[in-house]
Amino acid sequence: MLSSSQFFFLSILTLQCLTGLAAKCHVDDEAGLLGFKSGITSDPSGLLASWKTGTDCCTWSGVSCGEDNRVTGLQIYGQPEKKQILSGTISSSLSKLKRLASINLVNLINLSGTPNFLLTLPEIQIVYIENNKLSGRIPATIGNLTQLFALSFSGNRLTGPIPSSIGQLTQLSQLKLGNNMLTGTIPKTFSKLKSLTFLSLKKNQLAGLIPNFFTSLSNLIILELSNNKFTGKIPSSIATLAPQLRYLELGHNYLTGQIPDFLGKFRTLDTLDLSSNKFSGTVPKSFANLTKIFNLDLSHNLLVDPFPQLFVKGIESLDLSYNNFHLGTIPSWITSSPIIYSLKLAKCGIKIKLDDWKPKTTYFYDYIDLSGNEISGSPIGLLNKTDFLVGFYASGNKLKFDLEKLRIVQTLKDLNLSRNMVYGKVPKAISGLEKLNLSSNHLCGQLPPSKFGANSFAGNACLCGSPLPPCKS
Ligand SMILES: *[C@@H]1O[C@H](CO)[C@@H](O)[C@H](O)[C@H]1NC(C)=O
Ligand SMILES: *[C@@H]1O[C@H](CO)[C@@H](O)[C@H](O)[C@H]1NC(C)=O
Ligand SMILES: *[C@@H]1O[C@H](CO)[C@@H](O)[C@H](O)[C@H]1NC(C)=O
Ligand SMILES: *[C@@H]1O[C@H](CO)[C@@H](O)[C@H](O)[C@H]1NC(C)=O
Ligand SMILES: *[C@@H]1O[C@H](CO)[C@@H](O)[C@H](O)[C@H]1NC(C)=O
Ligand SMILES: *[C@@H]1O[C@H](CO)[C@@H](O)[C@H](O)[C@H]1NC(C)=O
Repeated sequence: MLSSSQFFFLSILTLQCLTGLAAKCHVDDEAGLLGFKSGITSDPSGLLASWKTGTDCCTWSGVSCGEDNRVTGLQIYGQPEKKQILSGTISSSLSKLKRLASINLVNLINLSGTPNFLLTLPEIQIVYIENNKLSGRIPATIGNLTQLFALSFSGNRLTGPIPSSIGQLTQLSQLKLGNNMLTGTIPKTFSKLKSLTFLSLKKNQLAGLIPNFFTSLSNLIILELSNNKFTGKIPSSIATLAPQLRYLELGHNYLTGQIPDFLGKFRTLDTLDLSSNKFSGTVPKSFANLTKIFNLDLSHNLLVDPFPQLFVKGIESLDLSYNNFHLGTIPSWITSSPIIYSLKLAKCGIKIKLDDWKPKTTYFYDYIDLSGNEISGSPIGLLNKTDFLVGFYASGNKLKFDLEKLRIVQTLKDLNLSRNMVYGKVPKAISGLEKLNLSSNHLCGQLPPSKFGANSFAGNACLCGSPLPPCKS
């Protein structure tokens, strides 16, 4: 005979078993996930350690289930710096997760395979398979997944063209295919993606003209097309994005023509990158109205004077290097910025005495590049105030100062003062740098120990000691 307390105990057990059974995930989902796990050859940090046969897959890490205990979400995030990565191949058995609505396989680094398993997941809405090693083509029928709201394959090794069927994904708000090896052109069908707010195709091998279809993409906030092989002009319909576009990145292409006047109407623009193209002519006067711009990169083009006066409240990073500018001085809208951390004005025709340049704030500076100008004087005062500088480049100027008096802060990694008139001895503190070029100056004396080769010190007055010939005693 069971006592009443034993009976009570047993019924709780039975109850737990029953609820346990009820909460158990669908057999197809369990099989699909275990199939995924069996495709993983190495999981050094145990990301999938809780994925065990016979336990409720809804409790496995990274797995989420809907009300009927079907798996609706799979979220696995790696942290490569902590050795949290996965090696292996994405198993096509994931296509058994028929109710999957959201899949995030991000920063797993060594996960290969193709995206084809997605095609049999009709309810999929959100796909972020980023920074892995997916290869092959984006399936031509991906346009069948009409519930998709966000699609990202950024940071993989996908090849071939972007399928035009993507134009059928009219719910898409985010489309990120950057950092792959995609070829061909941007499909014209993209004009149907009226809900897009974020389009990134950067770092591929896409070519041809940028289609003139932006009148239809009037919700875009971020447009990243940099590092491709696009040719032609900036299409005029980009003008319609003026009210809300915040990031416009077209750098590192083969774009030509003038920078259009209408860009000055982009009142909310935060970042404009037109670098490393073949833009010619002047920068439009209308840029005076870009009062909210934080990051402006026009470097490596064929732009000419005059550069307009800007009324930006605070620029954070600016690169006007390697055009045909003759700025003469460093413009006051740069000098007065309270938040600037990166200033690159190489070969901008600046003719100042560096001691006379008194930036309002030096606190945030990481990078200063003034190479290839006609700057005289000394950076001693400037570098005395930049506590977090990482790179200082001023090669090919007329700087004349005693190098021993230059403060080399601990954060400094890269110092290039080649082709100036720097004199004095080379200080010991250079041993903390990662890159150094002091060639073609007037330095003298014994070199302190460092990892740098002879061409970091070549062409000076009387430097000696390793890596240069020994000093005469
Ligand atoms: C990546 O995976 C391959 C096999 O899939 C393996 O040989 C290689 O060692 C892995 N790399 C890392 C960094 O784990
Ligand atoms: C995709 O859609 C096409 C028609 O657009 C249809 O013929 C095809 O069967 C669909 N493929 C799948 C896998 O659903
Ligand atoms: C700046 O915008 C105002 C108002 O839209 C306009 O009147 C002015 O001409 C613009 N300035 C420049 C330099 O384009
Ligand atoms: C560097 O700054 C310190 C105070 O922070 C000051 O005492 C010193 O005179 C400065 N040196 C030069 C060369 O500007
Ligand atoms: C320093 O600048 C010179 C001239 O601009 C350039 O050739 C060289 O590559 C630079 N060196 C380093 C270490 O940055
Ligand atoms: C230093 O700059 C000179 C040009 O000024 C260049 O020829 C040399 O290769 C550079 N050395 C290093 C180590 O970058």
